[in-house]
Amino acid sequence: MKHLCGGSIVGKQWIVTAAHCLEGLEGATTLLRVYAGIVNQSEIHRNTPFFRVQEIIIHEKYEMANHGYDIALLKVEVPINYTTLQKPICLPSKGDGKITYTNCWVTGWGYTKERGKVQDTLQKIFVPLITNEDCQMSYREHKITNKMICAGYEEGKKDACKGDSGGPLSCQQNGIWHLVGITSWGEGCARPGRPGVYTKVDEYVDWILKNTST
Ligand code: ARG
Repeated sequence: MKHLCGGSIVGKQWIVTAAHCLEGLEGATTLLRVYAGIVNQSEIHRNTPFFRVQEIIIHEKYEMANHGYDIALLKVEVPINYTTLQKPICLPSKGDGKITYTNCWVTGWGYTKERGKVQDTLQKIFVPLITNEDCQMSYREHKITNKMICAGYEEGKKDACKGDSGGPLSCQQNGIWHLVGITSWGEGCARPGRPGVYTKVDEYVDWILKNTST
């Protein structure tokens, strides 16, 4: 068993994550375990409860992370009981794409440097959102679509990295945390002028609602 990716609870039986996390695992639901309410990976033992995955739904237009549509849903076999440690995060409302969030955090157990390792303790960093125009200037070799959102520092140094994918870019607005992004890709990690690129969740709210209503 090894750490694969992060994810966010968006319903009693639904986890949203990145499609690229599930590449080659489309038919392998039995190999996956979803752990909720964990802070330290060392809490995970043979007898730690986990959720089995009943269904994997990958966005039908997904090809590769840096082309976009990097979103997937996992349906877990039994409903998750909500506690302070495991609870759903609000989806943005439609049209929230215009909101300028100023309190955004990226979290995960991923590497703390490019040639690093998965962390035992869940990590968090504050990341400023940047405009798609600025992000496009940082990634001339890629198309930054309006379904992507970028965050990071001009000087680099703080970013998501390998192992953080699929996890949330969470922004607090009027006291409520919203799932604004899903950790998707970036050139290396925390390199100057190379922000993190996230799936822009407000563009996928209809897709999430449609696919979780089954
Ligand atoms: N793709 C990586 C993963 O699978 C992480 C992507 C985020 N990279 C970044 N530099 N922001 O975990």
